[in-house]
Amino acid sequence: MEHGHVAADIERVVASADQIQARIKELAAQVAKDYKDRDLLLVGVLKGAVMVMADLARAIDRHLEMDWMAVSSYGSGTKSSGVVRILKDLDRDITNREVLIVEDIVDTGLTLDWLKSNLESRGTKSVEILTMLRKPEAAKVKVDVKYVGFDIPTDFVVGYGLDFDEKYRNLDFIGVLAKHVYS
Ligand code: IMP
Ligand code: MG
Repeated sequence: MEHGHVAADIERVVASADQIQARIKELAAQVAKDYKDRDLLLVGVLKGAVMVMADLARAIDRHLEMDWMAVSSYGSGTKSSGVVRILKDLDRDITNREVLIVEDIVDTGLTLDWLKSNLESRGTKSVEILTMLRKPEAAKVKVDVKYVGFDIPTDFVVGYGLDFDEKYRNLDFIGVLAKHVYS
């Protein structure tokens, strides 16, 4: 097992650290405006959304709360299974809350489609979605995503929270994983 330079396994950069931070600031400003005088509960989806959540929340200068869910829709591979399971549920009741789901990526949309309905069924006032990345060509269901960082091609990407077999989450940029790493 090699524990060397992480960025060396990246074939192509999809979003640089600077591009990500600039986009996060724009998204944060939009969220702050849209939720002005409203409740705001950010629900992060573990573990991929950890980086987006940390940067987004710090870019929003107002009171907000954060809670976390962990769901599984993937094994250690690179293909979506469509099977969603709650591994960790929210800590608090969300009745009447205004929820903004914070995600790393919308690929097939199956996870978020399921998660949005699940949270709505708990009597929330509103449920919207913010995702750092979206792969429009991979969509299997239409999910109404209010805030999108970047639309990207269907390649498998890692970094800024996104993993391949639990690794590469610590990259501060997003890139396409070189094929030699997983084939
Ligand atoms: P979906 O249900 O197909 O939309 O996939 C949702 C989840 O799959 C995301 O939250 C990620 O954890 C994972 N995923 C989808 N595409 C990628 C990718 O390109 N790289 C890493 N993880 C991905
Ligand atoms: Mg994942």
